[in-house]
Amino acid sequence: MYNFEYKNPVKIIFGKGTIPNVANEIPKNKKVLMTYGGGSIKQTGVYDQVKNALKDVELLEFGGIEPNPHYETCMKAVELAKREKVDFLLSVGGGSVLDGTKFIAAAIMFEGNDPWDILDKPATSPVNAAIPLGAVLTLPATGSEMNGTGVITRAATLEKKAFASPLVMPQFSILDPECVFTLPDRQVANGVVDAFVHVMEQYLTFNVNAPLQDRLAESILTTLIEEGPKVLANRTDYEAAANFMWCATLALNGLIAAGVPQDWGTHLIGHELTAFHGIDHARTLAIVLPGMMSLKRENKKEKILQYGERIWGITEGTDDEKINAAIAKTVGFFESLGLPTTLPEYDVPEETIGKISLRFKESGLKLGEQRDIDFQMVEAILKDRL
Ligand code: NZQ
Ligand code: ZN
Repeated sequence: MYNFEYKNPVKIIFGKGTIPNVANEIPKNKKVLMTYGGGSIKQTGVYDQVKNALKDVELLEFGGIEPNPHYETCMKAVELAKREKVDFLLSVGGGSVLDGTKFIAAAIMFEGNDPWDILDKPATSPVNAAIPLGAVLTLPATGSEMNGTGVITRAATLEKKAFASPLVMPQFSILDPECVFTLPDRQVANGVVDAFVHVMEQYLTFNVNAPLQDRLAESILTTLIEEGPKVLANRTDYEAAANFMWCATLALNGLIAAGVPQDWGTHLIGHELTAFHGIDHARTLAIVLPGMMSLKRENKKEKILQYGERIWGITEGTDDEKINAAIAKTVGFFESLGLPTTLPEYDVPEETIGKISLRFKESGLKLGEQRDIDFQMVEAILKDRL
């Protein structure tokens, strides 16, 4: 196992009826900006719950943060927050609203010229300060509620980039599984797949003799395979919703990453598919992961075989046959949830592959747990998905 440091200060408030607890968590005498998305919180009643709970708090609002939150939109919130001297942000929504809010929190305090540098030039423009934030999470998927990562899209240049800082970890996140009841099938399926692939990025690498991390990762995968279809079949199954929600949080709160190598190549390639074609984040992962598993089967051999055996009971055949069977099971799981896994099913033309590999060629970025996935390998992985 590698050496590691692990600190996660996010207070989780989990369970039915917990949204009004937000009133106890906002520090006294703060001017709060509540951020939200396209309006789902008004239809679901979450907006009213938060407003009622915070009726004694000085509260401003900023709505309209879109899925795959735009830098351009977030900068409008930064302007408002600076003008109004806001000193606490409350995100009410899914991962996109929360990621946008993390960026707003850092951008308000940014001292350089353009806060886009936080995403574009993290080495020279790190997050040095951020105003505090909290979250009411309405969609289990990203793990953003218990981590310090944000992913932002710049619409003008079709770029989607991530940044990370402990300074933007929420002070608290309220997770009421009843929020799952109002999610459309598509968002439930996306959430299950996003959480599943988060685990795979931290698990399907190479062996460093960390059996506890492996088994924690496998537990999350198995639970998602069991609970995800239950949530899809019966949206008001509270127990299934609760288990799904907690899986999504644990999949990306740093715990299973402690002491092990991490990949994240599937995510970085997937972000380009969203940037160019607006495909939902989880759906890009459903496309890319099978290609990643197939093309990196030698580097990842031991772990793919372990995954196949422990998660899907695959024990028969040569190593290559077992790996193919593990990929087929993974694809079958994604498709059973309603996520297509090939590029043509999303009308992505072949020329997009060239555009994406060119971006990796120009940046020189190498992906994967061994930093050996260059632009040509990116091209091969995507061609595998035609
Ligand atoms: O915008 P509103 O009207 O609120 O509607 C949203 C949105 O249309 C709706 N929704 C949310 N909660 C609902 C609901 N509808 C009914 N009932 C509810 N309870 O769902 C739609 C999708 O919301 P969004 O926030 O975009 O989804 P998700 O949570 O999957 O977030 C995706 C974003 O997170 C990033 C992705 O790249 C993408 O931009 N990620 C963030 C990560 C992180 N911070 O660690 C890691 C992930 O890998 C991921 O990259
Ligand atoms: Zn993800």
